[in-house]
Amino acid sequence: MAPKPRILAVGSTNIDFVANVERVPSAGETLISSGSYSFVPGGKGANAAVAAARLGADVIFCARVGNDTYGKMLKNTYENEGIDTRYVTFDKEQSTGLAAIYVESDGANRITVFPGANHTLTEDMVEEAFTCYPDALLIQFEIPKDIVYSSVKQANADGVPVFIDAGPIIPDLDLSALGKIEIFSPNESEAFALTGIRPTDAESYIRICLDLYSRLDVKYIVLKLGDRGCYIYDGHLGEAVPSYNVCAVDTTAAGDAFTAALTFEYLRSGSVRSACRYANAVGALTVSKKGAFPSLPTEKQVLDFIKNNQN
Ligand code: RIB
Repeated sequence: MAPKPRILAVGSTNIDFVANVERVPSAGETLISSGSYSFVPGGKGANAAVAAARLGADVIFCARVGNDTYGKMLKNTYENEGIDTRYVTFDKEQSTGLAAIYVESDGANRITVFPGANHTLTEDMVEEAFTCYPDALLIQFEIPKDIVYSSVKQANADGVPVFIDAGPIIPDLDLSALGKIEIFSPNESEAFALTGIRPTDAESYIRICLDLYSRLDVKYIVLKLGDRGCYIYDGHLGEAVPSYNVCAVDTTAAGDAFTAALTFEYLRSGSVRSACRYANAVGALTVSKKGAFPSLPTEKQVLDFIKNNQN
């Protein structure tokens, strides 16, 4: 059996307050909802780490939680998912990160993150985590910008390929200072924020990719396009990879799971195209269920889904 890809996920961890509502209130308005609410594990980094672990990767997670009930609960949850949590550490001052998420009836979400302990992650903590000899670094932008730069720098120095999910947008991030990247993957709003070009059709996709390619040291760009699937650009050619037709109930964590699946399958197969097809399936399954962690599929669920949804 081929060895499992060993992924170092450096990123955020939050407790998600999820409110399922008919619509969000306007300014000054109070709404009485007939929907439901819950507190569930989330955070872009943690979602990606758990997604990769459920698919079968060997995951090492480097993150920071508060020394509080949520922090302890989250660390236990990662352990139960089979993740190596040696580098998930507690901060004594700051509380565990929290995300307030409104999910409307069409599955679309609006998120406000209170970073808390996520902003106490240091370069030294990440440097220590690299001693686990990973096959890849998987990272997002929900941690301090300097940690993103230094993590990529460390990965480059160690010859470890870097996979970046470009969410959420860091306003003054210098893309050209990021270092060498294997795959850079923004979603539609991130692509627009980074380039000023709205991803609406094939022509806009290629313009976005050309713009990003000119500013990044990157091998592949993969645009996440929601229910339209994704778009790959390799520096010469672009290709759309259509998604699956599913009923979206909650898009939370779909992008995180997509990039984790993309990383995992790319490491296994070496093919960005098959990685995109696989990641589309994982994204489709994730939007079909409510919540972040609860919606992340296992490898078996993904394979069954692909088998039952052959084009
Ligand atoms: O991408 C979804 C995630 O964004 C949520 O789980 C929330 O914690 C925020 O980080």
